[in-house]
Amino acid sequence: MKVGVLISGRGSNLASLIDACAHPDFPAEIVTVISNNPGAKGLEIAEAAGIPARVINHRDFAVRDTFDACLSEALEDAGAEFICSAGFMRILTDGFVEKWRNRQVNIHPSLLPAFKGLHVHARALEAGVRITGATVHFVRPEMDEGPIVAQAAVPVMLNDTEETLAARVLEAEHKLYPLALRLIAEGRVRIVDEKVIISPAPTDVPPSLIVPGM
Ligand code: GAR
Repeated sequence: MKVGVLISGRGSNLASLIDACAHPDFPAEIVTVISNNPGAKGLEIAEAAGIPARVINHRDFAVRDTFDACLSEALEDAGAEFICSAGFMRILTDGFVEKWRNRQVNIHPSLLPAFKGLHVHARALEAGVRITGATVHFVRPEMDEGPIVAQAAVPVMLNDTEETLAARVLEAEHKLYPLALRLIAEGRVRIVDEKVIISPAPTDVPPSLIVPGM
């Protein structure tokens, strides 16, 4: 599956996806990385991995529609069939989201539907939750909403700061995103009534059900 990755900054989730895609048996390939921010560190990560990377600066566009149209065209020109948003901090128009419906996922650093939006870790600490985590979900017009593909739970420690908690969640994100992308690229993810159903891998079939010679 040919994937376009959207970023706005550091690009550590991009790096985890690049590492995963480097394995010969991984069923996805990153064909383009696009950042709305010219200063995004993730652009260097893409370039170092030999992946075509480009900037589409939202500041060059008067309205969201034309930015999103340009983004969509760039993804299509690169041959992307699927989008992974990885720290892409722009709200997309309904038109873009509908065009890529069920072909775009996002990673968010909380156990959605809790703590949508910004300053997630500070808000989790403020709320006193004992467990937080990360979510990979299909993108829908409402921010940080959409069918959940996979989640990772992360404990909150008594002496956590926003920074220590963010670092622990990020470590989980780096495992979760490649796992979710693998499930999707293997064709094991279906959306039924806006919920994700994951089919078992062929190897999950109990050995007694595999009839030799069939
Ligand atoms: C990640 O923690 C990601 O979950 C978050 O931005 C960070 C990007 O880091 N995304 C969101 O908050 C989206 N709502 P990265 O650039 O190092 O991957």
